[in-house]
Amino acid sequence: MVAGNWKMNGLSGDAVHLTQAILNAGLEPMRPEVVLFPPFTLLHAVSQEAKSSALRWGGQNLFWEASGAYTGEISGAMLRDMGCRYVLLGHSERRQIFGETDAQVAQKVKAALHSGLIPVVCVGESEAERAQGATESVLRRQVEAVLHLLNLDANQPNMIIAYEPIWAIGTGLSATPEQAQAAHAFIRTLVVAHSEHLAKRLLLLYGGSVKGNNAAALFDQEDIDGGLVGGASLQAGEFVQICRAAE
Ligand code: G3P
Repeated sequence: MVAGNWKMNGLSGDAVHLTQAILNAGLEPMRPEVVLFPPFTLLHAVSQEAKSSALRWGGQNLFWEASGAYTGEISGAMLRDMGCRYVLLGHSERRQIFGETDAQVAQKVKAALHSGLIPVVCVGESEAERAQGATESVLRRQVEAVLHLLNLDANQPNMIIAYEPIWAIGTGLSATPEQAQAAHAFIRTLVVAHSEHLAKRLLLLYGGSVKGNNAAALFDQEDIDGGLVGGASLQAGEFVQICRAAE
């Protein structure tokens, strides 16, 4: 899978242009699956362009309640109503800027699954945590907070985890394929310990300065099943190049 996280970028015209450019690139029948995460305001425009194609789309966040007096929030049902199949949860920008905790991210994952969305759960360590040798303990804390809240014996959720080291996001400094592979292999062992079934079909995406020129080496790694692309997903040509690297 290759996913484009547009973050807080773009107006309607950009959404139409970018979606059309991706559709016209001849990626169909889209192997790997290509997913766009536009801001909420652009979901309709993207869905109108992409509705009869293999391209998928999702929201960048949700709130765990189904409806009610939660000014400014968006529920899983609302995302489903926009034709979303996926939702990004726990992005480091939400954790750092908006103070989302592991427990809140886990609650959102549960709500997403309940709404019939596939959550793409983002995890990753900061530069200081890596320097202190705390990468694995941070990943363990973030992943286990989610796994503990889901009743994996009773449920077999469809879930994706994106490893996004914070020091690689928007910096142009990607993790090396070896660093990313080591983190992904570790995350997979955490999931195996909870549910072998989930671990078998779990997609692990790498995010953090994925570009046209480094995507192939990252995607070649055994435990890297695709990418979650930020900045480069706003450039149709480069995003298509990244999608091709995953074919
Ligand atoms: O979610 C994607 C992301 O945080 C990576 O951003 O700009 O480094 O590709 P970027």
